[in-house]
Amino acid sequence: MKAKRKAVFFDRDGTFIEDRGDLRDPGEVVFFPDTEDALRALQKDFLLFIVTNQSGIGKGRITRAEAAAVNAYVERRLLEKGIRIEAVYCCPHRRDEGCPCIKPNPYFLHQAERDFDLNLSESFVVGDHPHDVTLAENAGARGLYLLTGHGMKHRDELPSGRIVLRGIREAAAWMAADGYTRRLERSGALEDAANLLRQGGVAAFPTETVYGLGADAFNERAVARIFEIKRRPRFDPLIVHVADREQLGRMVAAIPDPAQALIDRFWPGPLTIVLPKKGHVPDLVTAGLSTVAVRMPGHPLALELIRRAETPIAAPSANPFGQTSPTTAQHVLDQLADQMDQVLDGGPCSVGVESTIVSFAGDRPVLLRPGGLPREDIEACAGPVTEPSVHAGSQVVAPGMLPRHYAPQTKLQVLSSSDVANLPRGSRMGLLTLNEVPPPGFFAAVEVLSAKGDLREAAAHLFGAIRRLDRLNLDLIVAHTVPESGLGLAINDRLRRAAK
Ligand code: TXA
Ligand code: MG
Repeated sequence: MKAKRKAVFFDRDGTFIEDRGDLRDPGEVVFFPDTEDALRALQKDFLLFIVTNQSGIGKGRITRAEAAAVNAYVERRLLEKGIRIEAVYCCPHRRDEGCPCIKPNPYFLHQAERDFDLNLSESFVVGDHPHDVTLAENAGARGLYLLTGHGMKHRDELPSGRIVLRGIREAAAWMAADGYTRRLERSGALEDAANLLRQGGVAAFPTETVYGLGADAFNERAVARIFEIKRRPRFDPLIVHVADREQLGRMVAAIPDPAQALIDRFWPGPLTIVLPKKGHVPDLVTAGLSTVAVRMPGHPLALELIRRAETPIAAPSANPFGQTSPTTAQHVLDQLADQMDQVLDGGPCSVGVESTIVSFAGDRPVLLRPGGLPREDIEACAGPVTEPSVHAGSQVVAPGMLPRHYAPQTKLQVLSSSDVANLPRGSRMGLLTLNEVPPPGFFAAVEVLSAKGDLREAAAHLFGAIRRLDRLNLDLIVAHTVPESGLGLAINDRLRRAAK
């Protein structure tokens, strides 16, 4: 029997075009910059649909013909870019008067289920209103809530425990990763890994940043094995991964308001927060510090694994200490082979650099490690963060700040284009660059991190590119820094440490 197809239903306004109220005219349509790439990646696995509630029709503010013209324009523009929308379901009702399209059941999901032979249980509705999530669940599909458009405004109305993401790019990554999760669920591997963790085993698993090497945070013997496998010094504390607020509550003694604001806004996601720990958190996990680093990862497989393990999971990146972090399951196997009990393959990591770490150990938030969440986003939410001071008494403040880290076997140097011109000829060199074009014939190999200069794409490719260059037996890898904004901070930080 042919497998039924999976679908994504997008709420039109606020998920892939800007929500500017009643759109009457195609000239008012503004696509989000990430829409095209996200939809192109998604359509490999999913049929794509648009669902749009145009209550302006019911209220007499716009006509059906105007709404239809905007929908047709959106469809046509996407088709020109090679993205096919199967159908548009446009509802004209006022939701506050009990829109019959979604009560008691969203008719269009069932309509599409019949017309396109869909498997709704593996399909998603993506929207920026709590209704979108509720109607998905009423039809047996899943809802993803985006903080774009109305998302921030209605966030409090969203039932708890739902998946909240920052935009269409994150949503696309989530849905791709969900495919891996379902496969491992069907094969039983996910349940096996959860049992293993409960019984003190060590398992490698994907997160959206890098793969982690995990163990029950409350089982000291299991945690000790992580240190042995990684050959990691015991003074370097681990990040504890949680699946929900209850698990967070088991780890931390207090959450100051700005930390709570960051948690509300960015979890699950690439952000780790250092907070005062509860007394029963093992010293091995925190290297004897009075604080513990916690994060809720934004990968469906990681969350499902931690939830089923029923315990917070301590997990450093799944690489030998000081070496390049893994962004695929194969990277983990290449570096650690069969030293752990199980490796879960959740696909390539969508962020590709480790989480940003913010400490609330002192009076003011400190940025301990730039990472997958841009500093700008953190400061917009929680106010200014400061750099770690060099002298912080006797305590290890941010051991990830050990100068040499993320290093390939091949010597790596961070150089500008003009430095390169002065390098002696004759050695075999590789270039790691955002998107610069090198002089012809100069380098034996070139890795372009993002042809269009997108720093998020560059971050996702960074560690894989370093690994590929490292396999070529070069004399030297030359790396150019990238612009120092957004994820550029994290990329440049990794390059400098890899060069030490
Ligand atoms: O994205 C990530 O954060 C990945 C994935 C697996 O979640 N994990 C990761 O872990 O990068 P690891 O162990 O490679 O880096 C953890 C960093 C270390 O630099 C450690 O020193 C710091 O977090 N850290 C942990 N607990 C701390 C604490 N209580 N105070 C200050 N820094 C802490
Ligand atoms: Mg690491």
